[in-house]
Amino acid sequence: MVRRCAGQMIICRSEKEIEKIRTSCRLVAKILKKMEKAVVVGGTTKELDEIAEASIREAGAKPAFKGYRGYPAALCASVNSQVIHGIPNSRRLNNGDLVSLDLGVLLDGYYGDAAVTAVAGNATVRAARLISVTRESLYLGIQQAVVGNRISDISCAIQEAVESQGYAVVRSYVGHGIGTNLHEDPQVPNYGTRGKGPRLKEGMVLAIEPMVNEGTHEVKVLADNWTAETLDGRLSAHWEHTIAITKNGADILSKLEGE
Ligand code: MF3
Ligand code: CO
Repeated sequence: MVRRCAGQMIICRSEKEIEKIRTSCRLVAKILKKMEKAVVVGGTTKELDEIAEASIREAGAKPAFKGYRGYPAALCASVNSQVIHGIPNSRRLNNGDLVSLDLGVLLDGYYGDAAVTAVAGNATVRAARLISVTRESLYLGIQQAVVGNRISDISCAIQEAVESQGYAVVRSYVGHGIGTNLHEDPQVPNYGTRGKGPRLKEGMVLAIEPMVNEGTHEVKVLADNWTAETLDGRLSAHWEHTIAITKNGADILSKLEGE
């Protein structure tokens, strides 16, 4: 079913389609779990990318990001002040490095997308607090993803959760619809006032992904044309789930079976 909302083309997925998206998302969750454990002192993000790509192909899936607008890897690994779209490289991770891991797959025609943030070795108090507020803000946003609410009710809940803790939400990148394309309508900003944007309907599938900065919300893109970094060089964390809107509330698709 295809519906037009405020100029956007938002697709409502059938239960069967949602199960396919769930299968893709579970694969992402499973691999991210493996990645989190592989974020170690002395390891590299390039190694993480290799494990991610091998795991994806082993499952008969394709990396969703590799080749997307020329992105060169399966995984986005953004270290410390890098916000998102960090390209994996061979620099060794130091104790306390914060690493945002973002992964997408395509399986049987449907996409899954999720992100987590992990720390190599011992997390500093600063990093641990930033990560926990980022994750918490995502869950508060997801709670607003119910039939009858509007997109910006999700956005506003995330922004309030983040700013009440003294952090800032990135504005120049947003969450998105997902399904048979990696990025579909609607856009899901992580900031805004309540009651704006398309109304949420059963069957909509959204990737909600707050990027949270310690200092300014402003980011710059590096010369590699991908890596987004905080303008002030302070830390940034990212957490993402793909969810489906159901009549019983938000169904988190990108979690492990039984989680
Ligand atoms: N989760 C991110 C997004 O939805 C990652 C995309 S990486 C890209 O935008 F390479 F595919 F762009
Ligand atoms: Co995404």
